[in-house]
Amino acid sequence: MNKVLVSLLLTLGITGMAHAAGDAEAGSSKVAVCGACHGADGNSPAPNFPKLAGQGEAYLLKQLKDIKAGSTPGAPEGEGRKVLEMTGMLDPYSDQDLEDIAAYFASQKGTVGMADPALVELGEKLFRGGKLELGMPSCTGCHSPNGAGNDLAGFPQLGGQHAAYTAKQLTDFREGNRTNDGEAMIMRSIAAKLSNKDIEALSSYIQGLH
Ligand code: HEC
Ligand code: HEC
Repeated sequence: MNKVLVSLLLTLGITGMAHAAGDAEAGSSKVAVCGACHGADGNSPAPNFPKLAGQGEAYLLKQLKDIKAGSTPGAPEGEGRKVLEMTGMLDPYSDQDLEDIAAYFASQKGTVGMADPALVELGEKLFRGGKLELGMPSCTGCHSPNGAGNDLAGFPQLGGQHAAYTAKQLTDFREGNRTNDGEAMIMRSIAAKLSNKDIEALSSYIQGLH
């Protein structure tokens, strides 16, 4: 490797570390209350509770801040992200706590599930090819071909996630019940082009993707 490239990588590495303010070790002592739903290591046992293990740290931190803002009792409609099951739960946590928690779950190893063989063909076609006739891009461009996402760009990991959870998110984006995808409304406009059958196939395919 040439010297310029090495020093560039070092610079990037060092800046990256300076930004990753969370301390996974400290986070491990702050997540006892989360384990009942998300699993102690972030691999939730129930399909309606999302797996957090191995999810991107920046994405996790954004969701924690959004959920804290949207799920505090009396939060205005449309603010942040409302998770009824987590109402008020993040209120006692400081920004540093949320950073540590995000670092902890990001450092855990995620498990992968299985896709329904009957849905793989449609799921893969949509995931990799999008719906060109409707101008809907493929999912791979942002969430990557293996579903690992791109945390620096804010694109979450999808691969291995419970199908029931993924299907609920895509439906929520489509119906406008989840609105924290930014002003560009990336996921709301994509989900608007998905039928129920498309959502079922994509979610099943994603559950087995790694
Ligand atoms: C009573 C069950 C329950 C508990 C306890 C709970 N959660 Fe959740 N959490 C949920 C549910 C349900 C969702 C998904 C809601 C939805 O469908 O949008 C969720 C979503 C999330 C998400 C978003 C995941 C994603 O992929 O976007 C994060 C991050 C999260 N929880 C973190 C935590 C943390 C940290 C704790 C502990 C402080 C915690 N949760 C405690 C039920 C729970
Ligand atoms: C242009 C980029 C882009 C494309 C293309 C894209 N996504 Fe996303 N997706 C995002 C972003 C950004 C978020 C995170 C929104 C947020 O911050 O809450 C997201 C979030 C999601 C989530 C929520 C994950 C979670 O853990 O809650 C799901 C599910 C999802 N996308 C599925 C898909 C599927 C399926 C496709 C293809 C049909 C797709 N996305 C195409 C950018 C994209």
